[in-house]
Amino acid sequence: MADKIKVDLGARSYEIRIGAGVLGQIGTLCRDLDLGPVALVVSDEHVNPLYGPPVEAALHEAGFEVGRVAVPAGEASKSGKMLFRLYDEALDRGLDRRGFVVALGGGVVGDLAGFFAASFLRGIRYVQIPTSLLAMVDSSVGGKTGINLPRGKNLVGAFHQPVLVLADVAALRTLPAREYTAGLAEVVKYGIIRDAGFFEKLEQNAAALRAGEPALLESVIAHGCRIKAEVVRLDERERSLRAILNFGHTLGHAVEQVTGYGRYLHGEAISLGMAFAARLSARLTGFPPAEADRMIALLRALGLPVERPDLDWSAVRQAMGVDKKTRDRALRFVLAERIGAVRVGCEVPEELLREVWNQL
Ligand SMILES: NC(=O)c1ccc[n+]([C@@H]2O[C@H](COP(=O)([O-])OP(=O)(O)OC[C@H]3O[C@@H](n4cnc5c(N)ncnc54)[C@H](O)[C@@H]3O)[C@@H](O)[C@H]2O)c1
Repeated sequence: MADKIKVDLGARSYEIRIGAGVLGQIGTLCRDLDLGPVALVVSDEHVNPLYGPPVEAALHEAGFEVGRVAVPAGEASKSGKMLFRLYDEALDRGLDRRGFVVALGGGVVGDLAGFFAASFLRGIRYVQIPTSLLAMVDSSVGGKTGINLPRGKNLVGAFHQPVLVLADVAALRTLPAREYTAGLAEVVKYGIIRDAGFFEKLEQNAAALRAGEPALLESVIAHGCRIKAEVVRLDERERSLRAILNFGHTLGHAVEQVTGYGRYLHGEAISLGMAFAARLSARLTGFPPAEADRMIALLRALGLPVERPDLDWSAVRQAMGVDKKTRDRALRFVLAERIGAVRVGCEVPEELLREVWNQL
């Protein structure tokens, strides 16, 4: 039985379906949405051989004309070069404004194909079929799309909501274990920022979650999507509330940058960032230190890194940058007030940053 969640955004509303086998529903669901007649499936070279054929078959069966493109797997494909390759493929295959894109893969494919859909012919529709845990619980929902520039990540992009998200949990069986574990970091984040009961459920079921128990996983993904959908509904364009989703990201992004995006997976870096934010919170917001310990214990129990990496603090500090809006003042963080509630825009004194880093 698939879970159905509505992302309620007026004319841009859409449904997320979560369950084993939902991928096979793509043809009929796209027909119901009146999409077509040409579909371009964008995937990567790991995911395409596994799930490209059944997606293409289901679309064919529903009467669509289908083209399929696979970009190399990995962050480097979120590039201008790949974007222009997709424009060419789309023109060669006769994709027009009635046609649509299917993003089949992890967050890299979702961001790239989503931005391609946002910009091709001034915007065409697209469907997300996330196949990594991170993409299922996070990147496929909410409409943030984009590519990287040589000078930084996600520097070009657009808000462009998909018309449908199909999270087929059966696809997680082929996801490498390390990628799976990294995705759990974003799941934990939802509990911390918005839902103490959910956090408790994760604590109680940490071993089963780590083992990927299917029924539990499906309910956890669905709940994560529900939380993200609600945050996006309240603040689609990140004017305020949506920034809570950046909990753990200030340090996490800096660690990724300093290590050249090669040593830590995104979720692993976010786990370090959340451990850091937990300790900062305990010093600044009245967040009980015992709750910070609980947060760190859960991340550790799920197999995520929480200890200070062997990196030069000044490089990490520099990578965190200065807040553009408050140039000469302290860096701002999303910090926890308690498990289930965070506060954005917290100024952290410079000395404390270093002290807490050394304590990690
Ligand atoms: N748009 C957003 O809101 C948002 C949010 C968070 C992260 N992101 C972006 O997401 C990206 C990271 O996404 P990711 O962690 O999914 O990385 P990814 O897309 O690189 O996927 C991770 C790896 O797993 C492989 N893979 C994916 N699904 C698989 C499956 N079912 N079976 C076998 N292999 C599979 C991929 O080929 C890749 O090698 C980053 O670029 C990040 O910036 C975007």
